[in-house]
Amino acid sequence: MVKKDIEWSQLGFSYIKTDKRYISHWKDGKWDEGKLVEDNTISISEGSTSLHYGQECFEGLKAYATKDGGIQLFRPDENAKRMQRTCEKIMMPLVSVEKFIDACMQVVKANEAWVPPYGTGATFYLRPFVIGVGDNIGVKPAEEYIFGVFGMPVGPYFKGGLSPVNFTTTDADRAAPHGTGKIKVGGNYAASLKSHSEAVDRGYADCIYLDPLTHTKIDEVGAANFFGITKDNKFVTPNSSSILPSITKYSLLQVAKEYLGMEAVEDDVYIDDLDKFAEAGACGTAAVITPIGGIEHKGKFHVFYSETEVGPVTKKLYDTLYGIQMGDIKAPEGWIYKVK
Ligand code: PLP
Ligand code: COI
Repeated sequence: MVKKDIEWSQLGFSYIKTDKRYISHWKDGKWDEGKLVEDNTISISEGSTSLHYGQECFEGLKAYATKDGGIQLFRPDENAKRMQRTCEKIMMPLVSVEKFIDACMQVVKANEAWVPPYGTGATFYLRPFVIGVGDNIGVKPAEEYIFGVFGMPVGPYFKGGLSPVNFTTTDADRAAPHGTGKIKVGGNYAASLKSHSEAVDRGYADCIYLDPLTHTKIDEVGAANFFGITKDNKFVTPNSSSILPSITKYSLLQVAKEYLGMEAVEDDVYIDDLDKFAEAGACGTAAVITPIGGIEHKGKFHVFYSETEVGPVTKKLYDTLYGIQMGDIKAPEGWIYKVK
């Protein structure tokens, strides 16, 4: 297998059409076996619930090429379970954990030439999704569904990789206190497009959402979770029912405790109490760990460690997590799924 001729280290986070994608249909109460196809377009009924009523969801995870020539997935079972929680909430049929992981593996194998080689800094991003399809017009769950997985090589989500970027808070909410914030439905992202674009227009990488009930606590950093390192070296990440439970965040909570010997907790993070943090970052599959230089809130700009350099604890967290994902550091039991 010859790798594609790509400047892997120059990749950003953009769509690239790879060779094969997986598709499976749900009809008459069951999923078909699913297959790999070349066509990257989907033809669906104009009445599809995913088009009108937002009955759709997605996931994001990555495949990593290891030093020994293997390829591995990082905690795909957690993405599968989160997709099940999402599907359950918006009345879509569940995809079994086995089917989800098998589909991801098929897509990685079929596109091996597109998986960035070890050491390039790039990875292969997988995008599973479920959409309600079929002829429909009333507000009710669809009778047919499509589960798909496609993937592509990607570089950093936020420009700069491990260089800090700045964020601003927004008055807008992406989700309601007891709404859909903790599941991965497209509507949350549609609700974030305008505030994201306004933040970018003002020179920030993205906006920070505050908790939708009181607007006093940090909820999320765009499409990533927030973490801070207190001045007494504690890892703190928001405890909120309206944020996406980030698999990266839960992994970091464990890495901070078990690999770095830190105290690590989920707790409220008040936007007026940022002084207690020596460092801060955004974490997620796409974002990996992105150091936060500073946060603008109501005209005041709070700088954490530095606007130009990553802090030492954030760097250690990054090196350990990325080392685990790339197969260079021994992972906790069950985190790594070998593709080949
Ligand atoms: N928050 C939002 C809104 C996201 O879209 C994502 C990305 O999936 C995350 C957080 C990070 O979650 P994870 O670490 O599971 O990728
Ligand atoms: C991810 O990190 O996988 C995300 O879903 C973030 C974004 C690209 C929507």
